[in-house]
Amino acid sequence: MKLLRVVKLVAGYKNTIVLREVSLEVDEGEKVVIIGPSGSGKSTLLKCIVRLVEPISGKIFFKNIEVTSKNTDIKKIRQKTGFVFQNYNLFPHMTVLQNILLPLRVVKKMSREEALEKAESVLEKVGMLEYRDKYPLQLSGGQQQRVAIARALAMDPELMLLDEPTSALDPELVEEVLDILRKVAKQGITLLIVTHELDFAEDVADKIIFMENGKIIEEGPPHEILYNPCKQRTRIFLKRILKKRINSLSHNYNSSAK
Ligand SMILES: Nc1ncnc2c1ncn2[C@@H]1O[C@H](COP(=O)(O)OP(=O)(O)OP(=O)(O)O)[C@@H](O)[C@H]1O
Ligand SMILES: [Mg+2]
Repeated sequence: MKLLRVVKLVAGYKNTIVLREVSLEVDEGEKVVIIGPSGSGKSTLLKCIVRLVEPISGKIFFKNIEVTSKNTDIKKIRQKTGFVFQNYNLFPHMTVLQNILLPLRVVKKMSREEALEKAESVLEKVGMLEYRDKYPLQLSGGQQQRVAIARALAMDPELMLLDEPTSALDPELVEEVLDILRKVAKQGITLLIVTHELDFAEDVADKIIFMENGKIIEEGPPHEILYNPCKQRTRIFLKRILKKRINSLSHNYNSSAK
């Protein structure tokens, strides 16, 4: 079954159109990675799915529910969707445990005991149980992001949307977060992830979508998109990412050699 269907979505901000008739489908359990240059509309697309940005035209369906219909209670859709942003978004004045308990108590209306059990189990899953009483600022960026992932998982979402979950992290912290996401992927949860970690995308994705200028330029399985893309635009973009990667590697190498 299709978990998500986006049909000819047009969206933007005030006077600018960002998404120009984007259509895509995600099967239940499918892992989809979105890549594309800055400003191409990747974040806007994810935000439209939970109506943090209101589309101008086109439709979005979550299972058989039309997300874009005025009659749909968007809160219900958001409850089934875990959203992880680039900058973790944990509440700074709450401990790790409180950050996870809050939505379980408020949104899922769980009892204290039930919420506690759930929170502990997801913290265990991301290897953060021993940090339960720390505040976000006492954690590394990678640890904070693992807590943000745990918080999303705690809601038992049917769909997880992740927007560049590792792009704010120092290089040495990226892998620990990707490892957690690999584990999450194995559990069969449907994932839609914006990331430029191409090794990760190759491992995990069933499908990679390349977006540019508000449009899907091409999509396909990783081996096709990463190694043999049809479109020149995709090739140019991938080359640029690889070049950046090599430059930063040699920079790190040179500075550590000094
Ligand atoms: N809140 C906003 N108000 C006005 N314009 C916005 C807003 N958010 C994004 N935009 C514009 O919409 C376009 C697409 O932005 P979006 O964040 O979706 O791109 P992106 O592909 O996620 O880029 P990046 O890789 O840099 O995160 C950009 O030109 C951006 O300037
Ligand atoms: Mg973005």
